[in-house]
Amino acid sequence: MSVNQTLIDQLREQARAAAGRAYCPYSRFRVGAAIASRSGVVFTGCNVENASYGLTICAERNAVFQMVAAGQTAFDVIVVYTPTATPTAPCGACRQVLNEFSPAAQVVCVCDGPEAIRSTVRELLPAAFGPQNLG
Ligand code: THU
Repeated sequence: MSVNQTLIDQLREQARAAAGRAYCPYSRFRVGAAIASRSGVVFTGCNVENASYGLTICAERNAVFQMVAAGQTAFDVIVVYTPTATPTAPCGACRQVLNEFSPAAQVVCVCDGPEAIRSTVRELLPAAFGPQNLG
């Protein structure tokens, strides 16, 4: 699937809607993610926190796990939205999980300001440890 601006715009809206469903009473930091799988299906995720803080799941991993649970393991693009003035890039743990499934995928981080971060999973996680290391 080609990753054109129309798709990015659609994913942005879905990521923004997902951020509205974030469960983040501790940080109050909302994150939404929307993934277009290789077959063109969109999966979304938001961050879900827990009173036991370390159990928190980020929006990006939530979206990836939704995709895998639906039987799909490859994606072309993920859009990450935060309701902030500048964009937020995925944390290290999420980069590792994104890399597991699609190192070549595009990562687009958007916010309420004009700035965006456009990258690929591979660029965000150079010299990655991945499935290839396990034979
Ligand atoms: N968070 C994400 O959802 N994605 C990231 O890439 C960075 C952090 C969430 C986790 C936590 O609920 C809140 O943002 C503050 O760290």
